[in-house]
Amino acid sequence: KHHNVLHLVTCVPAGRLSAGPGAPAGRGRAPPGQHAAYEHILVERRGEGERVTLIQLNRPKSLNALCSPLMSELLEVVHQAEQDPAVGAIVLTGNEKAFAAGADIKEMQDKRFADVYRGSFLAFWGGVAQCTKPVVAAVNGYALGGGCELAMMCDVIYAGEKARFGQPEIALGTIPGAGGTQRLTRAVGKSKAMEMCLTGDMIDAQTAERA
Ligand code: CAA
Repeated sequence: KHHNVLHLVTCVPAGRLSAGPGAPAGRGRAPPGQHAAYEHILVERRGEGERVTLIQLNRPKSLNALCSPLMSELLEVVHQAEQDPAVGAIVLTGNEKAFAAGADIKEMQDKRFADVYRGSFLAFWGGVAQCTKPVVAAVNGYALGGGCELAMMCDVIYAGEKARFGQPEIALGTIPGAGGTQRLTRAVGKSKAMEMCLTGDMIDAQTAERA
């Protein structure tokens, strides 16, 4: 679980990831082929024997910005999948425009250092990396800031042609605060990691795969 792998693949058509009719009202594990009713994510069981839990980040208007309620829902489903012997793996995805454009800036903007430090802001995100079942990130569009960090917490990253990875936090006067400086260094090497963190520039899927 210490190294993740990046493959370049053609993305899954968006229609195959959209919510089907008749989604149940209750939270938690969905019946086969159906979504559980979370506010910020869509959850579905897929694959042979319904062994894959597919989680789609679903805040398209804010490019799937990772607000705390979204991350709480995500961690709840990851934890459930981990406990469920019928689940073999988890796939985490977004949409064609964005995997996730980062932590939610609107939620973060008024926080002071002391709030963040005392409240261990973002610490619980690490539950994705600690999951004992394989977690695959299917990335298309923007994977920026916390979105890039979340993808790197997964075991394998499959990137579509439109994927763009970046750590633009420096433009906000902050740093990749959810492990990005360390995970990016392990994933792409120190030089490229430093370049990305210090410039905020994005790289495309081909460059990411080469790196
Ligand atoms: N948080 C909250 N809202 C966000 C967001 C974010 N990270 N990224 C985008 N949005 C919102 C925008 O505010 C906008 O909402 P409104 O329509 O209500 O104004 C909507 O999503 C669409 O965004 P844009 O109009 O900006 O779309 P665009 O196509 O012109 O640009 C983009 C796309 C280049 C990704 C641009 O949205 C952008 O630069 N986003 C911010 C990326 C960023 O800085 N991410 C790092 C966040 S900090 C972080 O993640 C800390 C950490 O280490 C955990």
